[in-house]
Amino acid sequence: MEYRIAVIPGDGIGPEIVTEAKKVLDRVGQVFGHTFHYTEVDMGGVSIDKYGVPLTKEALETAKNSDSVLLGAVGGHVGNSRWYDVAPELRPEAGLLAIRKGLNLFANIRPACLYDGLEDACPLKREIIGDGFDMVIVRELTGGLYFGERHTEEVNGVMQATDTLVYNETEIRRVAVKAFETAMKRKKKVTSVDKANVLDSSRLWRKVVAEVAADYPEVALENMLVDNCAMQLVMDPGQFDVILTENMFGDILSDEASMITGSIGMLSSASLNEGKFGLYEPSHGSAPDIAGKGIANPIATILSAAMMLRFSFDLDKEAEAVENAVKKVLAGGYRTADIMAEGMKQTGTKEMGDLICSQI
Ligand code: NAI
Ligand code: MG
Repeated sequence: MEYRIAVIPGDGIGPEIVTEAKKVLDRVGQVFGHTFHYTEVDMGGVSIDKYGVPLTKEALETAKNSDSVLLGAVGGHVGNSRWYDVAPELRPEAGLLAIRKGLNLFANIRPACLYDGLEDACPLKREIIGDGFDMVIVRELTGGLYFGERHTEEVNGVMQATDTLVYNETEIRRVAVKAFETAMKRKKKVTSVDKANVLDSSRLWRKVVAEVAADYPEVALENMLVDNCAMQLVMDPGQFDVILTENMFGDILSDEASMITGSIGMLSSASLNEGKFGLYEPSHGSAPDIAGKGIANPIATILSAAMMLRFSFDLDKEAEAVENAVKKVLAGGYRTADIMAEGMKQTGTKEMGDLICSQI
């Protein structure tokens, strides 16, 4: 089969890690008889420099007309005043928000599991890690605080800024369905996280999630307040299967979950719409501190490409081949700097990509 992939390398380490993910996809194509066609798309700072905006209409169209999107990272350096001393809608991250909204990618799926042999990179004590953990965070991605109306004004001579957190039933229901569908293929447990003791939007969230849960009698539903969830993630991460939550809580909790796996450089993500289309990207950002050094961990991006094979193209066997190749390379003792431990063999970005290809 042939697949058309829009590729957004972005900036920082983005281009380096995307190169490795494409290499792995091409290896999969070679072994399993598929062809992947790539169209490069500018977004973020790269697009700001060329066109003055973080995402052009044409770029969004190219993405829409593809079968899926592979994204490295956008952001650049916060100290880069060329990209940052401007209105929020002109900053690099605005490109991310615009593409999520423009492609209607309302469900963000982020696995967080502890790989065998990476226990040393995990900041938690062994007795807390126990038998390890393997969870997926399903985060609502196109509603809530990040998309609500906002403004800054002067009130009685004092500056005041307002953000609004809005959710409607439709938005809650469709992401809840994704979470329950995900749980059906896993350990059949959904923990819905909210702040229902304070927020109206959370009370509606709880009500709608309970309605969706009624359609999935095999799946256990548990409600948890977000502050408690933040604690539980570091006290007993093994209790979680699927965590379902709104946009901002999900942003924060998924970063927390990523850190207990040892490295953000290992964590993939998929952002899905109602159908087969998805945008696949590592959970981390553009890591300007290590950009251009050839030391970034490409595994998060490579595993994101594996998610693309599974979710968008229904190529389960191929996705597994990539995931198993990653496990074999780690089991072989190869580590990038971020997950390096005593006695292991340190490899750079490109070498890691080559090693993974060689195992497919
Ligand atoms: P970051 O994720 O870029 O970096 C955090 C830390 O993790 C840094 O020390 C970095 O070196 C390390 N790191 C990240 N990815 C790594 C990898 N693959 N291998 C090894 N080490 C890795 O987050 P930060 O520093 O807060 O943000 C940097 C820029 O990225 C900002 O401009 C931010 O807005 C943007 N960003 C973009 C995202 C995206 O494109 N989806 C997501 C998060 C942040
Ligand atoms: Mg984040």
